[in-house]
Amino acid sequence: MDAPRRGAVDSGVRAIADPDFRDDVLAGLASPIRAIPARWFYDRRGSELFEAITRLPEYYLTRADASLLERHAAEVAAVTGAGRAVVEFGSGSSAKTPILLRAVAPSSYVPIDISGDFLRHSAAELQPLFPDLPIHAVEADFMVPVRLPEAVRDAPKLGFFPGSTIGNLVAGTGVDLLRRMKDTLGLGSYLLIGMDRVKNPAVLLRAYDDAAGVTAAFNLNLLHRINRELGGTIPVEAFRHRALWNDPLGRIEMHLEAMRDVAFDVDSKRFTMRAGETIHTENSHKYGPRDARLLLKAGGWEAVREWTDPDESFALILAVAEATRVAP
Ligand code: AVJ
Repeated sequence: MDAPRRGAVDSGVRAIADPDFRDDVLAGLASPIRAIPARWFYDRRGSELFEAITRLPEYYLTRADASLLERHAAEVAAVTGAGRAVVEFGSGSSAKTPILLRAVAPSSYVPIDISGDFLRHSAAELQPLFPDLPIHAVEADFMVPVRLPEAVRDAPKLGFFPGSTIGNLVAGTGVDLLRRMKDTLGLGSYLLIGMDRVKNPAVLLRAYDDAAGVTAAFNLNLLHRINRELGGTIPVEAFRHRALWNDPLGRIEMHLEAMRDVAFDVDSKRFTMRAGETIHTENSHKYGPRDARLLLKAGGWEAVREWTDPDESFALILAVAEATRVAP
């Protein structure tokens, strides 16, 4: 499971499909273990549904992350100093960004997101709050190397990766991303990253299978998107949202389960599924304190400060890009 790549056009009924979306869907449906990368949730509707998730009573992550940021942004600034370019990976609505920007007095803000119209809309909403701050929005998949705008290339940098988005990635891909962020930001940069903690599975399951069914709609929207953009004939009403806790792998998984035998076309190719079979659509990894530091370390980042809420449900970690050192 991976995070954002390039934005797809999702405005019209017959939208022009992103070829990467088509390739991932066709390969994912043809594979013996059906899986589609989680980045494809985020068309405009999906991004809106995710915003609705962040307001759910069961979805503690966003509130925990934002309140840690409120409480500790001044300490972040004390470590990093002022005047850095803040580079946000997967900025989405940039909802938490003002808290950080107010505290660290940046020289510029660079939001990077795969959902282009959402990105520009969010940047436009942020600008009046910081009238003098140069904002350079970059529409890109942060999973591929990002070229930062010329204007910020020489500035010292503070990467910002809140919300536990890193949790969508399996360890190998997460480490690849952390290394790439280090390449993008450069030595001596800081990274402020949110990571969801391992906790009681009942709490986790509620957060990913809410009573109002918003997470179910978010998951099922992927099938609607396939129908819209790839000429799909998937009978969406024959599928249901499933969330499960995979204990050995320390992650929540989301699946779309066929409730009866189904046959459908996508891009003129025929697929069949038996009742009970699923399409795996997302992993959301949860980390203990050592897991988090090990992951960062493997990616070339050294944790220098770490904050958690009183029930230790979520961690906000400030890390520095370290020079490659010889063992030990
Ligand atoms: C945006 C990846 C942090 O994994 O918690 C929310 C996405 N999926 N509910 C998460 C999500 C289902 C979310 N992240």
